[in-house]
Amino acid sequence: MELLLRQWRAEDAFALQRCADDREIACFLRDVFPHPYVLSDAEYFIKACLQEPKEEGLHYAVEVDGALVGSIGLCVGKDVACRSAELGYWLARAQWGRGIMTEAVTRMCHAGFEQLDLLRIFAEPFSSNTASRRVLEKNGFVLEGVLQHSVYKWGRVMDACVYALLRP
Ligand SMILES: CC(C)(COP(=O)(O)OP(=O)(O)OC[C@H]1O[C@@H](n2cnc3c(N)ncnc32)[C@H](O)[C@@H]1OP(=O)(O)O)[C@@H](O)C(=O)NCCC(=O)NCCS
Repeated sequence: MELLLRQWRAEDAFALQRCADDREIACFLRDVFPHPYVLSDAEYFIKACLQEPKEEGLHYAVEVDGALVGSIGLCVGKDVACRSAELGYWLARAQWGRGIMTEAVTRMCHAGFEQLDLLRIFAEPFSSNTASRRVLEKNGFVLEGVLQHSVYKWGRVMDACVYALLRP
């Protein structure tokens, strides 16, 4: 299996839409990730990634054996949070459980500390998101706390977990 994190391309929009239009992915993400996920959502997302100034974040397409299978990104904070970044990711359901995102997170964190000169990378999976929590734990992220009832998603109240990885 060959894993590649690469820049987004305008022509990824069709494949992105097909992978991202999945309730089982959307249910673990913020509402800014649309559901249903239509072609214009994919085009808008790719354009935004390509236009973002480099110092504000890194956004990569996740490719396995030449096919687009997901997305991973770091969003740099503002003001005094300017050396922290939030990590976000998702993977097409057909690819789950192969260790792909664990490896993608390893590479992304390395890029974040090196290219963005970050001190801290954090993520906030919903507490019920066991797979995402495992991905973070396997990458050395530490659970700093639980934000109780901080999430209201599709009519349900949930907790979010704050995980962070400090610059080595
Ligand atoms: C989270 C996500 C990216 C994980 O990607 P992945 O490539 O399948 O993850 P990996 O295969 O690298 O690792 C998953 C780990 O979680 C474990 N896992 C998965 N589902 C699990 C479950 N229901 N209960 C317990 N462990 C589970 C796997 O066994 C594996 O751990 P292990 O190596 O110790 O066995 C993928 O499930 C996804 O896209 N989910 C929807 C979107 C999302 O949640 N994004 C993150 C928001 S914070």
